[in-house]
Amino acid sequence: MDVLIAPATVADLDAIDVIEQHSFPRPWPRSTFERELINENARIDVARIADTIIAFNNYWIVAHELHILAIATHPDHRRHGVGRQLLAHAIAAAGVAGCTLATLEVRRGNLPAIAMYARAGFKVTHVRARYYHDDEDALVMLATI
Ligand SMILES: CC(C)(COP(=O)(O)OP(=O)(O)OC[C@H]1O[C@@H](n2cnc3c(N)ncnc32)[C@H](O)[C@@H]1OP(=O)(O)O)[C@@H](O)C(=O)NCCC(=O)NCCS
Repeated sequence: MDVLIAPATVADLDAIDVIEQHSFPRPWPRSTFERELINENARIDVARIADTIIAFNNYWIVAHELHILAIATHPDHRRHGVGRQLLAHAIAAAGVAGCTLATLEVRRGNLPAIAMYARAGFKVTHVRARYYHDDEDALVMLATI
C-alpha cells in the first residue's frame, strides 16, 4: 500500500484521536497527543493514503533509547503493512538519532501487536505482572537498533 509517513501537526490531532478511540480499551484523550506534539523528547508520525490519515505512531527518543508509546492503524486499514512501515520508520529515525535500543510494553493478550513487534525484531525480556488497570500483564519487549 502506498503510504506517506510524516511528522504529525496540530491539524492531525482529530484524526489521531479517532484512530485512538477505535484502537484501545482505554483510549488516551486528545490532550495527551496535544502535549506530545510539544514534548521535545516525543514524536508522533502519521501515515496517510492520499489525504487521509490511517495510522499513527507516538514514540520517545531519549538518550540512546527509542520507546514506543502508542502505535495504531485504523481498523479499516489493518493488515496492509502500515503498522510495520510506521515501526520501521521510527526505528530508522532512532538509529539516525544515535539510539541503540528500542523498548515497549504490550498487553499479554494483544497478539496482533506482539506479532508485529516480533516481526520487527523485538523480543520479550520480562513480564510486568498486572501492569494495566484491568490487571492484564504487560510484556516488556526490546530490540537492538
Ligand atoms: C497492532 C497494529 C498497530 C498492527 O497494525 P497493522 O497496520 O494492521 O499491521 P501490519 O499490517 O503492518 O502487520 C505487521 C505484522 O504484524 C502482524 N500482525 C498484524 N496484525 C495481526 C493480526 N491481526 N494477527 C496476527 N498477526 C498480525 C503480522 O506479523 C504482520 O505481518 P504480515 O501481515 O506480513 O504477516 C493494529 O492491529 C492496531 O492498531 N491495533 C490496535 C492498537 C494496538 O494494539 N497497538 C499496539 C499496542 S501500543
